[in-house]
Amino acid sequence: MPGVSETCEQIVHCHHGRSFAAVGITGNRGWSASALSPVRVSYVHGGYRYRSPFRELPDNEYIDACVQDLVDVVGTSTSGDVACMIAEPIQGIGGFTSGPDGLLGAMKEVLDEYGILFISDEVQSGWGRTGFLGYRGTWRGSGRDNLAKGLGNGLAVGGVVARGDIMDCFTANSFSTFGGNPVAMAGANAVLDYLLDHDLQANAAARGSELMAGLRAATPELPVIGDVRGKGLMIGIELVEPGGRTPSQKAAALALEETRVVAC
Ligand SMILES: Cc1ncc(COP(=O)(O)O)c(C=O)c1O
Repeated sequence: MPGVSETCEQIVHCHHGRSFAAVGITGNRGWSASALSPVRVSYVHGGYRYRSPFRELPDNEYIDACVQDLVDVVGTSTSGDVACMIAEPIQGIGGFTSGPDGLLGAMKEVLDEYGILFISDEVQSGWGRTGFLGYRGTWRGSGRDNLAKGLGNGLAVGGVVARGDIMDCFTANSFSTFGGNPVAMAGANAVLDYLLDHDLQANAAARGSELMAGLRAATPELPVIGDVRGKGLMIGIELVEPGGRTPSQKAAALALEETRVVAC
């Protein structure tokens, strides 16, 4: 952003893509091949409650602790001239993790005080998968980075939604050989028509509630299930060694193998 430093904050365990800058802001060891980064980044707590040091706190106190962490990080590990905070409402590659409802809204109040933009990365959670068109509460963010995968249902197309003054801040020309190609645009329009005509958001909310209830009911019987979490049809199960929180690689590998689709 012109006029501000290139520092940005974000939530640990996040993933934002494979370009140099995107790897640089990704807070997930398994997806960060290099520590080199074109931007300075600080990380804050909140997105992975199951393994957070604040996990035993009730929702409101958990939110307060994470907000205080954000205030501390801005106050101590940045120059004070922070461009943005970027977060996934539900972290996809991080394990379908999220904080309690209201966490990002509470953080945004702090960001507004400091004039820091909020970018909501909804590449995985957007377009109705969670039961909402965009994760509830993030549409009104000052900055909102939006959605690739669900928009084209496999066709390469993505989008960004933001306030006009933010979109207009890039003064140089831009161009992409395949940008706006008619097939991808027609595909994206068809996907959005289908999504709205068939109310797929309501379907994701209804089927997701059923699935969540079934999984939660099964949890006490299956000590290998440490946590069941998510929204709508974006649901994750954390597999652990029975009796603790140690991740069970064996159970995860077995689950992957058993659910693998074999093409014939
Ligand atoms: C949450 C999230 N953000 C950003 C990206 C990057 O999207 P793309 O592969 O279109 O660059 C991904 C890709 O997996 C993602 O999962």
